[in-house]
Amino acid sequence: MSLPEDARHLMHDEYTLAESAAMNIRMALSNKEGLSHPEVAVILGSGLGAFADSLHDAVVIPYGEIPHFPRSTAVGHAGRLVIGKLGGLTVAAMQGRVHQYEGYTARESAFPVRVLARLGVRRLVLTNAAGGINPAYGQGALVLLSDHINLQCANPLSGANDERLGPRFPGMSEAYDARFRRIAQQAAAAMGYDLKEGVYAALAGPSYETPAEIRFLRTIGADLVGMSTVPEVIVARHMGLRVLALSCVTNMAAGLGEGELCHEEVLATTERVRSTFLALLTAVLPRIAAEQD
Ligand code: HPA
Repeated sequence: MSLPEDARHLMHDEYTLAESAAMNIRMALSNKEGLSHPEVAVILGSGLGAFADSLHDAVVIPYGEIPHFPRSTAVGHAGRLVIGKLGGLTVAAMQGRVHQYEGYTARESAFPVRVLARLGVRRLVLTNAAGGINPAYGQGALVLLSDHINLQCANPLSGANDERLGPRFPGMSEAYDARFRRIAQQAAAAMGYDLKEGVYAALAGPSYETPAEIRFLRTIGADLVGMSTVPEVIVARHMGLRVLALSCVTNMAAGLGEGELCHEEVLATTERVRSTFLALLTAVLPRIAAEQD
């Protein structure tokens, strides 16, 4: 069966649009010595953007200045791409992301990953704020993702596939790089931090879950719940990037803690764990950049 004309157009588009956005970023970096080839990218979730401020000699590009880039509207998401140095390492940090609940499709929300990959990045660290379902996690815990369950009722690869970007049916059995997780575990242990791992369930949001939904998620094997990350991981794996993902348990999930959930609580918790989060990322990034393929 041949593809309809409009699907062919779409498929051509995503590759070209990502390339044009990447080209634009390359131009912005062109007069900055040593920044043109970021080795690692980090996507900083709700309230976790401060890491980007620790990069040196940085070029800061608001998403609005990158062609075809989605604009983030959520509070706690600055909406800037910061490319700078962490020691000798060149890091591209996204301060904020976009979500399905802002009205973006899964494909649109993961488009920045396409752009980072076209920029030459092969290793991606995703961070997010999440609700804790596993009772072993306390509020404020940092947890590595070992796997995910996509309950967003959408997949960023739906529609025509462009083989230049990746295969039609990419595998997801090793989405969260085992070696990167070991590196993160070792870095955390060196800090005296007990870094747990868990399965992240992605829902569309923006309403938080009901207690009944959380009981369901626990039954099906989820340890964490959030509204992001999974489309980006799927697109990253589609393009062959190696992925590490880290959640900050900003609250116990609905029905497991006291009172009603709110975004202010999420931001207050990220603020409280900021220094541990920054120390862990700072220790992990150079090590995963140095890791052999
Ligand atoms: N549910 C969904 N997303 C979240 C939560 C939550 O409890 N906390 C932070 N992001």
